[in-house]
Amino acid sequence: MISSPIIRVGLLLVASTLLALPLAGCRGDRTDDRPRQFLPDMDDQPKWKAQSETEFFALQDGTRRTQRVPNQNTVAFARRSFNPDQFGANAWAADYSLERASFLAEDDAYYTGRTGPDAFVDTIPTTVTREMLDLGRRKFEINCVACHGYKGDGTGMVAQAGYTPAPANLLDPKFSDPSQRSAKDGHMFSVIREGLWNEITGANRMPAYGHNISADQAWAIIAYIRVLQASQNVSPDDPSIPDSQRSLLTRSRPAAPASEGVSP
Ligand code: HEC
Repeated sequence: MISSPIIRVGLLLVASTLLALPLAGCRGDRTDDRPRQFLPDMDDQPKWKAQSETEFFALQDGTRRTQRVPNQNTVAFARRSFNPDQFGANAWAADYSLERASFLAEDDAYYTGRTGPDAFVDTIPTTVTREMLDLGRRKFEINCVACHGYKGDGTGMVAQAGYTPAPANLLDPKFSDPSQRSAKDGHMFSVIREGLWNEITGANRMPAYGHNISADQAWAIIAYIRVLQASQNVSPDDPSIPDSQRSLLTRSRPAAPASEGVSP
C-alpha cells in the first residue's frame, strides 16, 4: 500500500509523462515514414481523373470513362442543392426556385420569344405585374438608355455621340403596330438577348445583351417599353390616370428666379 502522498504524486507525474511522450515527442521531426492515420477515410479518399477508366460505372458509349456523359434531356446542375419544399414560403427562397426553373428553359415562347424558327410571339407570355414594370424600368435605365434615351426615343448620349447605325426610336409606330414584325414582343425579346444583325451582310446593328439580361428581365424591359410608348401622348384628363397623380401632370412650374449672373 502506497501511503505517502509525495510518492503518490510522484508516480502520477511519471505515468502522465510516459503517456504524453508518444503523442507530443515527435512533433516537428522530419521522417520518411507514413504519418499515423487516426481517421484514414478522411486522408485517403477515392479520386478519379476525368479521362481515366473506372470499374465503377457500366460501359457507356463504349467506354468506362470516369467523366460521364450527362443523361439525355438532363441539364448538369452543380450549384447548391436546393429543394424549394424545404424552405416553404421564405421570401429569399423564391429567387432560387425561379433560377432553378430557368435551368431547363423548357418553354420556348418564354425563353426564346419564338414558337418556331421565325415565329415570334405577339405578346409577353406571362402576366405583367407592377413589380415587373419596376424591374423593367431599372433594367432599361441600366442597359438601354445610353443609346435609346430615357424616353426610348433614340436620343441617348451614345446616340448623340454618333453611334452608327442610329439607335432606334422605340416610340416610332413600327414598334407598336401589331402588323409589323418589329412590334412583336417576341422580336424585341430576341433583339435584347441575341442582338440585331443585318440579314444580308451579317453585320451587327445592335449588340446582344443576353449575357447580362435574363429572360425574366427582358420581358420586364419590354413591358416597360410598352409603358413608355403608351404614355407619350396621354392627356392629363385620361381616366386611366389615378386622381392622386393628375395634379402632378397639370401643375405649372414656378418661374425660375431671376439670374444673378453678371451680364456680358
Ligand atoms: C450600344 C447602343 C445600344 C444599346 C445599349 C441598346 N441598343 Fe437597341 N438598338 C441600337 C441600335 C443602333 C439599333 C438600331 C439598329 C438599326 O436600326 O439597324 C437598335 C435597335 C433596337 C430595337 C429595334 C429592333 C428592330 O426590330 O428594328 C429595339 C427594340 C431595341 N434596340 C431595344 C433595346 C433594348 C431594350 C435595349 C436595352 C436592353 C437596347 N436596345 C440597348 C443600339 C443599342
